Amino acid sequence: MRPTFLDAIAARVLVCDGAMGTMLYARGVFVNRSFDALNLTSPDLVSEVHREYVRAGADVIETNTFGANRIKLGSFGLADKLHDINLAGARIARQVARDGAYVAGAIGPLSVRIEPWADADLPILEQTLGDPAMTEHLGGPESPEQIARRHAGYAEPGSGQFRIVVGRERAPAGWVGYWDREWRGEQVYEIGWSVIPSFQGRGIATTATAQALAAARAAGGHRFVHAFPSVANGASNAICRKAGFTLVGEYDFEYPPGNALRCNDWRFDLQADAR
Ligand SMILES: CC(C)(COP(=O)(O)OP(=O)(O)OC[C@H]1O[C@@H](n2cnc3c(N)ncnc32)[C@H](O)[C@@H]1OP(=O)(O)O)[C@@H](O)C(=O)NCCC(=O)NCCS
Repeated sequence: MRPTFLDAIAARVLVCDGAMGTMLYARGVFVNRSFDALNLTSPDLVSEVHREYVRAGADVIETNTFGANRIKLGSFGLADKLHDINLAGARIARQVARDGAYVAGAIGPLSVRIEPWADADLPILEQTLGDPAMTEHLGGPESPEQIARRHAGYAEPGSGQFRIVVGRERAPAGWVGYWDREWRGEQVYEIGWSVIPSFQGRGIATTATAQALAAARAAGGHRFVHAFPSVANGASNAICRKAGFTLVGEYDFEYPPGNALRCNDWRFDLQADAR
């Protein structure tokens, strides 16, 4: 019987396969296509690459799933195929490997990053806080003057405000940021986020929020980060839940002045998460 992967790697050097994308490109698949989707549309092509690596002596082959995450697939309109593409990728590799090679699951980076806010980022605020649909749960759009003031503050060094960028081309996808506030007698951070509509529904806000929480932790300062989404803001409340916030309660706010808003109070403990 074939030894387990751990026994094999303890006993000898295992040779892994090489790049999958390069080999697919060499077979005529252009870089603007989803290589991962080929698991569904051209499984034979993927098998062929795996087979070549096994024939060349690879002990380990990696599934063709490097970019098969919701964010990357979403940029090809394939987010709903996430499960099928990963399952097919594993099946294809297993079929080729049989008992001759080990199969490793390839998981590439999400390609969502946060970067300090800069002078060129004004359009992100215009497309989010300046848009009536985007501010449905925030009491309506801000005026160009309010946005310009906000932008100037965000661009200050160490403001805690970030643009969210996606992909190798670093496309601006939204904003996330934290700031100081007093809450029920305590100094805390408050956090907020906004993702441009064409980028929504791919997990970008949740990923960027996790990164902003890490930045808040690194900045030191306060122990707790609070988020106050309107109780009616399903997506933002889902982000809080997914990012590991704890629901503390509901409160009535006035935001902007003159607009009553019933909000959830979600709290994230930077120290608890740092374990
Ligand atoms: C809220 C917002 C940032 C979400 O951005 P996003 O990148 O689409 O968010 P994500 O994809 O990371 O996560 C959204 C989650 O909310 C869920 N969701 C979306 N609409 C929902 C709704 N009406 N009810 C419940 N959940 C909902 C999604 O299913 C997803 O959860 P899942 O990954 O478990 O499926 C974006 O809609 C936005 O910018 N809205 C306007 C600004 C705003 O309201 N900011 C927050 C102020 S507190």
